[in-house]
Amino acid sequence: MFVTFEGVDWSGKSTQAALLAGWLAEEGRTVLLTREPGGTPVAEAVRDVVLHGHDMTPWAEAALYAAARADHVEHAIRPALERGEDVVCDRYIDSSVAYQGIGRGLGEDRVRELNLMVTRGLLPERTFLVLLDPEEARRRGAGQPDRIEREGDDFWSRVHEGFRSLAAEFPERFVTLDGSRSPDEIAEEVREHLRPLL
Ligand code: ADP
Ligand code: TYD
Repeated sequence: MFVTFEGVDWSGKSTQAALLAGWLAEEGRTVLLTREPGGTPVAEAVRDVVLHGHDMTPWAEAALYAAARADHVEHAIRPALERGEDVVCDRYIDSSVAYQGIGRGLGEDRVRELNLMVTRGLLPERTFLVLLDPEEARRRGAGQPDRIEREGDDFWSRVHEGFRSLAAEFPERFVTLDGSRSPDEIAEEVREHLRPLL
């Protein structure tokens, strides 16, 4: 099973990805818990450039996320799925579509096409979108903001609305979750959705 979590920064998706991976392991399944950008040495190096490096053009940013994803899919995600393992990934292609395609205005279709090309069309079976008002999410934020987190309110509302429209466009893959509830309540809803698929 390949499952991804999406949402604006600080919506609580990493917390949910970890809770789900823990539950799947308790159920006796072998799980790869991973994140984007990252998950392989090449992708982690790209992460450093894209989040903590110099300013860059929107297409340079989109291409770097896609490069990290290409390596991550071929060297970590696809091999795990081929071994019959579950993969739980914190962010995936939908993040590029929402942040670069819609947030940066590069175009939803063009960014999706780039990413389907570099991943040879690998899409998750389920994508959980943790919905939280971007202002509320930012109140949860702590520490030094990275290059993307320093963006203004307009960018955040475009990304938030972008995710919502993706969920509406692909209702068979997306499950939306109310991120304002407690972590345990949200995790239980995730488990309810996945139990029939185990
Ligand atoms: P993300 O991966 O979306 O950036 P995290 O899971 O890292 O978000 O959570 C961001 C912050 O909010 C952390 O401090 C985390 O402990 C807290 N948090 C996570 N889930 C919830 C929740 N359901 N309610 C309140 N706070 C939460
Ligand atoms: P990360 O620290 O993982 O943020 P979070 O824990 O809040 O998800 O940083 C990832 C950042 O990169 C986040 O701001 C979203 C952004 N991003 C994109 O813009 N496009 C992408 O394709 C991906 C995977 C992430």
